Amino acid sequence: MFKSSFFSFVLLSSLVAPSVLAASADDWRGRSIYQVVTDRFARDDNQTPACNTTDRKYCGGTWKGITNRLDYIQNMGFDSVWISPIVGNVEGTTAYGEAYHGYWTSNINTLNSHFGTADDLKALSAALHSRKMYLMVDIVVNHFVALNSTSPTGTAETPASNLDFSTITPFNTVSSYHPFCFINDYNNQTDVEQCWLGDVNLPLADLNTEDTETVNTMNSWINKLVKDYDIDGLRIDTVKHVRKDFWPGFKQAAGVFATGEVLLGDPEYVAGYTKVIDSVLDYPNWYQLIEAFGTTSGNLSALTSMATQAQKAYGDSAFVAGSFLENHDQPRFQATTTDMALVKNAMAWPFVHDGIPIMYYGQEQGLTGKGDPDNREALWPSGYDTSKPLVAHVKSLNGARKAAVAANSAFLTTPAQFIPQTQISTFAFTKGPLAALFTNTGSSSSDKVTWTIPASTKLFKANEKAVDVLTCTSVDADGDGKVTVTAEGGNPKIMLPASAVTSVCPTVRAQGSSPSASNSAITILGGMEMRWIVVFGALLVGSTIF
Ligand SMILES: *[C@@H]1O[C@H](CO)[C@@H](O)[C@H](O)[C@H]1NC(C)=O
Ligand SMILES: *[C@@H]1O[C@H](CO)[C@@H](O)[C@H](O)[C@H]1NC(C)=O
Ligand SMILES: *[C@@H]1O[C@H](CO)[C@@H](O)[C@H](O)[C@H]1NC(C)=O
Ligand SMILES: *[C@@H]1O[C@H](CO)[C@@H](O)[C@H](O)[C@H]1NC(C)=O
Repeated sequence: MFKSSFFSFVLLSSLVAPSVLAASADDWRGRSIYQVVTDRFARDDNQTPACNTTDRKYCGGTWKGITNRLDYIQNMGFDSVWISPIVGNVEGTTAYGEAYHGYWTSNINTLNSHFGTADDLKALSAALHSRKMYLMVDIVVNHFVALNSTSPTGTAETPASNLDFSTITPFNTVSSYHPFCFINDYNNQTDVEQCWLGDVNLPLADLNTEDTETVNTMNSWINKLVKDYDIDGLRIDTVKHVRKDFWPGFKQAAGVFATGEVLLGDPEYVAGYTKVIDSVLDYPNWYQLIEAFGTTSGNLSALTSMATQAQKAYGDSAFVAGSFLENHDQPRFQATTTDMALVKNAMAWPFVHDGIPIMYYGQEQGLTGKGDPDNREALWPSGYDTSKPLVAHVKSLNGARKAAVAANSAFLTTPAQFIPQTQISTFAFTKGPLAALFTNTGSSSSDKVTWTIPASTKLFKANEKAVDVLTCTSVDADGDGKVTVTAEGGNPKIMLPASAVTSVCPTVRAQGSSPSASNSAITILGGMEMRWIVVFGALLVGSTIF
């Protein structure tokens, strides 16, 4: 078997090499994305120097470092990696430190040499593709950064006249940018699109994306970048700061899937951008998700009603929205709470709700950085420890998603549907073939929490075993197919029919039975009384060991 699959792999790679077919939204729908800040994820030497996030300096992570750590990422079940921006950035120290994050573009025609060479990036791309994984690259179109000229003539009030545009490639004159003004009114879309982000200490020069020549330059650039590095998808920064009708042409020139950052909680506003690019990052649900599970008194119905509203607004784009709990712009969730039950509930949402799951590196290691810059910790001090509880959790979440897809290929286009529950500290949704059960009682509550999955959902057959993929424990459906599940320690549950979980849960035991009873015989004996299990166990031991 190994031989033949190896042979077909070689054959296939030689046919399609060097470039893989451009990946579309359909190709990305079933993916699971791990997001890294290249400078902070992995170094390629064996050094593990401290990285002081407060200093906002380069800490030494590289593309080669990522390539060397693909096992770590893939073993958690991810099949795609989003890397921070790759192009040339301002050098040296600004009022906000160095451009280690990559969002301060100064030259779109070079790579950021801090992260390696063009060959290193190509090697990362090829290594991903040889594992059938995808590469997503973060890009910025809206703005560039020019440093102050050595003899500034402007004032803090008119920073544009301080700037030395000749330090930018290719847009090296002030005329390539919108006339200077900082965004003043976020409710005024003209202001949002035409004025500048940043501040007097670091103005972000706003590219004039109304200019035809500028548009052509950006379109040719992205076309070449995608081809040169065999990029499968793009994450586009600050999308709402560029006029909407810029995006379709840009997206077509790129030729691959693109998801955009539209940083706002209003689902109607955000959904507007799904008409001009494939996908948006799901900020509307994110705001409610962190509230819902940030404390044991979070408002779960605010999340479920937002999810319903967003689902309507997104339409089919819901299935390719980037669904996340953390990213490099927001506080890490574990800075809000370290209650493992709440964390596990919040982490589960992106993997089983409608969008494409995106997990920000380090969440699995329990990183707790507050906002920018503390949420961009180096990962190397963790030792990439795979025995951490959240590593196992992520693996199960990816496993649950894969099992659901394997059991029902329509899973990826089936909208999640909430099923009413009686306790306000719970909610549940179905998304065939799975049912996802959530609670925010936390790990120390003594409340008895139960969920009901009614027979009318038709997820489970009469008397069928319903397995929680997160613990590989089962409960039996009743004679009508109704399932009642009791929470354990405030943890979420993702229920699938036993027939769908063989790859993710090779052995299943009855919920409430002893975890040490790992013998699959126990599964059969699940319903029996303890004393019979003991007798049967003694017989087994007697016959095999003595
Ligand atoms: C990190 O850098 C900040 C600012 O330079 C400094 O105040 C702080 O003490 C440093 N932290 C450590 C642990 O070195
Ligand atoms: C919106 O912003 C633009 C650009 O800054 C400005 O010219 C215009 O007057 C603003 N409109 C309103 C209604 O405030
Ligand atoms: C540029 O100059 C202005 C004042 O002229 C100053 O306030 C600002 O900090 C400077 N920015 C940088 C990045 O050096
Ligand atoms: C929870 O959210 C719902 C839906 O947004 C809202 O109607 C309700 O008033 C909120 N409850 C509390 C206690 O804030």
